[in-house]
Amino acid sequence: MVAVVADVDALLGLASELARRAGELLLAEAPDRADDVSTKSSRTDMVTAVDVASEALIVGAIERERPDDGVLGEEGSNRDGTSGVRWIIDPLDGTTNYLYGFPMFAVSIAVEVDGDVEAGAVFHPSLDELFTARRGGGAQCNGHPIQVSGHDDLATALIGTGFAYDADMRRTQGRWLERILPSVRDIRRGGAAALDLCWVACGRLDGFYEAGLAPWDFAAGALIAREAGADTSAFDGGPMRAGSVLAASPAIAPPLRRLVSEAATL
Ligand code: IPD
Ligand code: CA
Ligand code: CA
Repeated sequence: MVAVVADVDALLGLASELARRAGELLLAEAPDRADDVSTKSSRTDMVTAVDVASEALIVGAIERERPDDGVLGEEGSNRDGTSGVRWIIDPLDGTTNYLYGFPMFAVSIAVEVDGDVEAGAVFHPSLDELFTARRGGGAQCNGHPIQVSGHDDLATALIGTGFAYDADMRRTQGRWLERILPSVRDIRRGGAAALDLCWVACGRLDGFYEAGLAPWDFAAGALIAREAGADTSAFDGGPMRAGSVLAASPAIAPPLRRLVSEAATL
C-alpha cells in the first residue's frame, strides 16, 4: 500500500482554526444552553443543539476544504474517505459542564493519517487556550511549548479521572476510586477528558486515567500529552485504546498503571 503523503502542518492549521471557531460558537450560544436538551445513552448523557451545531460547523468546513477525507464525530458524522486522512471530532467535550455553566468544556479535533494520529487541537474557550501538537513536533499551548510536570512520587501526585454515563460502570469506577484515592495526593474530576489530557500535558495534573472513553474524547488530547512528554498507554501498559486511557508524567505512569490495574481486580 502506498503511504499517504499529507501536509501535516496544514492539517494542524485547519484543525486549530476549526477548534477555535467551534469554541467561539459554544461561548456565543452559552446563554441559551439550557434550551433544546435531549439524552443519548442514559438519562445523564445529554446532548444539546449546540453539540450538533458545533459538529456541523466543523464537518461542513472539512467537507468544503477536503472533500476526500473521512470523518468520525461524536454526534453522528461517520464517513470513510478516500484520501487516507480522517478527522476525529468531539464538538463539545464536557456537555454536562457546559449546561451548568461550569467552565471546563472544549472542542477536540484529531487528524489521523493512514490510521495514526498525526495532529491534534483542543480549544478551551473559557480560558482562551488552544492546545496543539503534531507527532514528533512537541506540544504547545497558544503557540508556547508545554511539558508535563515531571513529578515523580505517586503518593503526592494530583490525578485526574472521569466517570462513564452508564450507572453500572460508574459503580465499578467508584469502587476503583476507593482503592486509588488514599494512594495519591488527591483526585480531580474536571468533566472534559480532552482537557484532562491537555492539563497533564501542561503540568496542571500529574496523571489521568479513565475507563470507558470513546476515540473522540482522547485522540487529540493523548497526542498532546505524549508530545509534552507524558507516558501514554492502556491500564495494562499496552497501546492506549477506547475504554483504557492513562497518561502521566513518566515516573508516575508505572505506579499509576499498577494501582489502577490492582483496583480493577478488587
Ligand atoms: C465526557 C467527558 C467526561 C468523561 C466522559 C465523557 P462528553 O464527554 O469527557 O469528562 O468523564 O467519559 O463521555 O459527553 O461531555 O462529550
Ligand atoms: Ca467527550
Ligand atoms: Ca461531546
